[in-house]
Amino acid sequence: MIPQAFIQDLIARIDIVDLIQRYVPLKKTGANYSACCPFHNEKTPSFTVSPSKQFYHCFGCGAHGTAISFLMEHAGLGFVDAVKELAQQLGLEVPEEGPALSGTEREQRRSLIDVMSTAARFYREQLKSSPRAIDYLKRRGLTGEIAARFGIGYAPDGWQSLDKAFPKYDDSGLAEAGLVIDNEAGRRYDRFRDRIMFPIQDARGNVIAFGGRILDAGEPKYLNSPETPLFEKGRELYGLPQARVGIRETGTVIVVEGYMDVVALAQYGVNNAVATLGTATTPTHVQKLLRQAERLVFCFDGDKAGRKAARRGLEASLPHLADGKTVSFLFLPAEHDPDSFVRERGAEAFQLAIRDATPLGRFLLDTLAEGCDLQTAEGRAHLVHNAKEFVPKIAAQVLRLQIVRDLAAAAQLSPEETSAALGLAPPPRPAFEPFQKGDWQKGRFGKKSLPAPEPRVGVVPLEQQLLRILLARPRLGDKVPLALVDLLPETAERATVMAIIDACEDGTLLDAPLGAWIEHFRDSTHEAAITRAMQSIEEGYVDESKLEETLRGLLDRLELQAVETELKNLQIQVASGRADNSSAARLGSLLAKKQKLKSGQTV
Ligand code: UTP
Ligand code: MN
Repeated sequence: MIPQAFIQDLIARIDIVDLIQRYVPLKKTGANYSACCPFHNEKTPSFTVSPSKQFYHCFGCGAHGTAISFLMEHAGLGFVDAVKELAQQLGLEVPEEGPALSGTEREQRRSLIDVMSTAARFYREQLKSSPRAIDYLKRRGLTGEIAARFGIGYAPDGWQSLDKAFPKYDDSGLAEAGLVIDNEAGRRYDRFRDRIMFPIQDARGNVIAFGGRILDAGEPKYLNSPETPLFEKGRELYGLPQARVGIRETGTVIVVEGYMDVVALAQYGVNNAVATLGTATTPTHVQKLLRQAERLVFCFDGDKAGRKAARRGLEASLPHLADGKTVSFLFLPAEHDPDSFVRERGAEAFQLAIRDATPLGRFLLDTLAEGCDLQTAEGRAHLVHNAKEFVPKIAAQVLRLQIVRDLAAAAQLSPEETSAALGLAPPPRPAFEPFQKGDWQKGRFGKKSLPAPEPRVGVVPLEQQLLRILLARPRLGDKVPLALVDLLPETAERATVMAIIDACEDGTLLDAPLGAWIEHFRDSTHEAAITRAMQSIEEGYVDESKLEETLRGLLDRLELQAVETELKNLQIQVASGRADNSSAARLGSLLAKKQKLKSGQTV
């Protein structure tokens, strides 16, 4: 855990314009800056960055967030890494709370990264002086340019070649980095010998592991680094830094199985492929990738192992599906992997196959129906039984609804019966609403989510209006009496308004830019309501030049509501003969108050 105070400090100190400028050319337009949105393709700029709010927003695709969100979305970093990156830029140390990296652990990581980068350099140099290795790569159709782009190298055929790369071959760092093996006799030797070396990099481009391919036939074909403090297999993807631009340009990421698949595709101009590292796809992989792309296509070999891998990919995807994102599956002909396919048929044929990949919904239903004879009641029941393990895990509500309907049709049940059998809430009535209110509300900071249809201003509930005003200038929370907020219906918006007032009382955030407030509520239950309100503000539903006036008007209306409710109750008392003297006095003062509030009102 990183302390909140540090994050607020970070947002207050970092200049979001400066940060985004490094990735996207910004132009000053009035108080803000604008550019063509880096998150979707467009020709006229609808992406704006506000230095005063420390916030960005795209009117085209709805992308929005703080400097931290930007690094998460744009550079694909996780939250902690994004914070660390910003801290580093400011020359700050990230303080840690609870069980986290200690200073020495951080130093160890740093020194392991140095060791790995020295080794990577050594292997690259060795490639230049090995005609045999160069010849192997050429035979596999790779140019020097692509080899350089992926930092491909060669580990020479000796027991202690790394001795030449490091001043001290007996340094403990070499073993910790997984580059050498200490045998029982206490003798040390290189893990990788006579192999083509594929460096595996993290999102920031640090080399964190290697995959080494044997040049001739032999076992194992690929030797990988062991897990180390730098390298956790289920998290990392091969080729991610090289694929970043391609992913952004196409909105699509292709997941393949092998190192050579990634490199060969890049050789043919398909620059948006990454590979899992000899392990099954994990939910972490999917989450990482769906943060950066709208569309994820698993492209697995046409063999039995490939189908199995696809199933694992399917399972890993379910919890991270979002409406507006698609996951598809491409099965190549049985004799092919992506490398051989692109070589034989060319990039265009590969792109067409990617375009026509099977959508997850269909692949899921096909998988569930495998081995079920849908002509029989038993077979159809079996289908629903199979679905129980998968369908409830689908995070995207609309997609889940669609799949339930398809499943219902195949099982010859109604969607309601199917939902019940799966232990899901019944589908909504009446009829079919293409969009459920909660769907886009689930959109979290920084995620691209399209705005919900905006009701006309007059019908926006008071608590929503109040929240918008508070998010436009959070310190106004100081001026909102909690007693009035109490009168609002108990919605998510009301809860968030209260949380903002609380934070105002606490005082630490009072003068912080909006971005700091947004970060304050990251991962809290208030996130969805805040996202909704921010969207409306950015779309101009709040007149930011008249915030205090609007707030006063709003509080007056709230008070009027309170007065009217109390009046109604009193009048009922009077009518039923239960009124006493004091209620008569109260009635008089309430009527006067009502009069005053009404006359002061502009609406
Ligand atoms: P493949 O056997 O499909 O190899 O393994 P490939 O990628 O097509 O390689 P080439 O074309 O023969 O050179 C797919 C992936 O599984 C992992 C590697 O990550 C490999 O890229 N693997 C495979 C291993 O880790 N170890 C092995 O021995 C074999
Ligand atoms: Mn291959």
